Amino acid sequence: MIDIHAHILPAIDDGPETIEESIEICKVAANDGIKKIVATPHSKNGVYETKSVEIIKAVDVLNTQLLVNKIDIDILPGAEIHICEGLVENIENGDVLTINNGGKFILLELPFVFVPPGTDKFIFNLKSNGIIPIIAHAERITTFQRKPELLDQLVKIGARVQINAHCLTKRAIPGEKKCAEWLLKNRLVHFIASDVHSLNGRPPILSKALETATRIVGEEAARALVFRNPELIINGLDIY
Ligand SMILES: [Fe+2]
Repeated sequence: MIDIHAHILPAIDDGPETIEESIEICKVAANDGIKKIVATPHSKNGVYETKSVEIIKAVDVLNTQLLVNKIDIDILPGAEIHICEGLVENIENGDVLTINNGGKFILLELPFVFVPPGTDKFIFNLKSNGIIPIIAHAERITTFQRKPELLDQLVKIGARVQINAHCLTKRAIPGEKKCAEWLLKNRLVHFIASDVHSLNGRPPILSKALETATRIVGEEAARALVFRNPELIINGLDIY
């Protein structure tokens, strides 16, 4: 499996504080059958402004340590970018990282409590510039919990949708679970990812969510969310 949303790099955002902690998280992920992780530190969220070169350097360091520790996981560069003005320019000049530094897909974070007016135009503008936004943890956003059908409009404009694995487990918050299940039933989910920050809270485990998704959409469609779709986008190919 491939996890496209993970705060896995040490001392770069609110993820692990040390490389040892990053390695422990990767061990758990490897045991769950995860082979690749896109490192997505927070960016442009008003708190973290991690530079692309720092992310790429930290990915190299962690990959080396995983080799030394014989953990069979490949870390790829990326970022979780908060919605902001000038994003197309930020991407073009390398200020923010796209998924696997491929220049095509971004993991886009929206505010938790509302979807800013004009988000549809924002997404359309990104798409017109050849950039495809993946809406991070859509089930956590209050507006989508109330009106999940709004995501249908954003997907039609060109957005893709990621939900957190945690929201399909027994410990999920009911509103998030209900929203995620509705989105799955209506075929509006493209990725299940961990959004891991540490081994507490949301662990780097996708297999349990895959089981739940399989019961909702069937085996082939569920497996696409953690195997085929992530593989496509890290190779710069879109999902239709
Ligand atoms: Fe995140």
